[in-house]
Amino acid sequence: MGEHDGRVALVTGGSQGIGEGIALALARQGSAVVVHGLTQDFADQTVGAIVAAGGRAIGVAGAISDPETSRAAVAAAVREYGRLDTLVTSAGIQRYGDVVSTPESVWDEVFDVNVKGVYLSAHFALPHLRVSPAGSVVIVSSAQATATQNQVAAYSSSKGALNALARAMAVDEAEFGIRVNSVSPGSVDTPMLRASAKLFGDGSDAGIERVLANWGTSHALGRIAQPAEIGEVVSFLTSTRASFVTGSEVRVDGGLLARIAAALPMPEEPK
Ligand SMILES: NC(=O)c1ccc[n+]([C@@H]2O[C@H](COP(=O)([O-])OP(=O)(O)OC[C@H]3O[C@@H](n4cnc5c(N)ncnc54)[C@H](O)[C@@H]3O)[C@@H](O)[C@H]2O)c1
Repeated sequence: MGEHDGRVALVTGGSQGIGEGIALALARQGSAVVVHGLTQDFADQTVGAIVAAGGRAIGVAGAISDPETSRAAVAAAVREYGRLDTLVTSAGIQRYGDVVSTPESVWDEVFDVNVKGVYLSAHFALPHLRVSPAGSVVIVSSAQATATQNQVAAYSSSKGALNALARAMAVDEAEFGIRVNSVSPGSVDTPMLRASAKLFGDGSDAGIERVLANWGTSHALGRIAQPAEIGEVVSFLTSTRASFVTGSEVRVDGGLLARIAAALPMPEEPK
């Protein structure tokens, strides 16, 4: 028996990276999963992994900023499984630049995917969650909603907006028994992070590993996370074990935001 037995979940961005880790975790606990991705082939790969492990899943594809994508994904859940209980939004993009170097088109692209995409998914999913006995939403935000690197003006702004949206939805949906939380990962080993590491390293495979290892040292735990570690937290937050958790910003960042960069000089080890 899994703690999500009988439930149906929609995971946007479930076709790879953190969303895939979440889709696999929810399926392991018995949820049927609608795996959304930008392209059908990647969504179907996650579906294949879930089905191979004995779970139930279908794949849907399309640009998340297009209302028809979210409408169709929710409709697919209801058509295939008759209900929708859980919404997890993980679809997102990262673009680099400060406010001067970021063109308006890139700013709009980041907000269309990262913020409007979440609004659209929730807009179509919430009417179904409102009639579920266990409606729950998790928005995948970022540590960069709270503290920011340089050159991520649009991205960090979009993630700050998501934390505010999660709070607003938590307040509005409470009367329907729906809990809404945001999860803020630190660095997670995904295609997105590896693409960034390629950009900021020498481009070689070894260079990517060096950059990832270096980014890992910014986290108190000394390493980056694996997608499954985010999946476990989302699985908990959407379970009845988290029945009094709503409106929370849950950090899953290995201590990234807990540490002040100015470390005290330590006395030399006794000889
Ligand atoms: N990887 C990290 O270190 C990290 C850290 C903090 C937060 N996040 C956030 O976690 C989420 C997932 O990131 P990831 O690292 O797994 O990224 P990823 O690039 O590996 O996967 C992104 C997912 O989003 C989907 N997607 C992207 N653009 C889309 C679009 N226009 N329409 C529909 N789907 C689209 C892709 O199909 C894919 O499934 C993002 O919201 C990201 O901002 C990632």
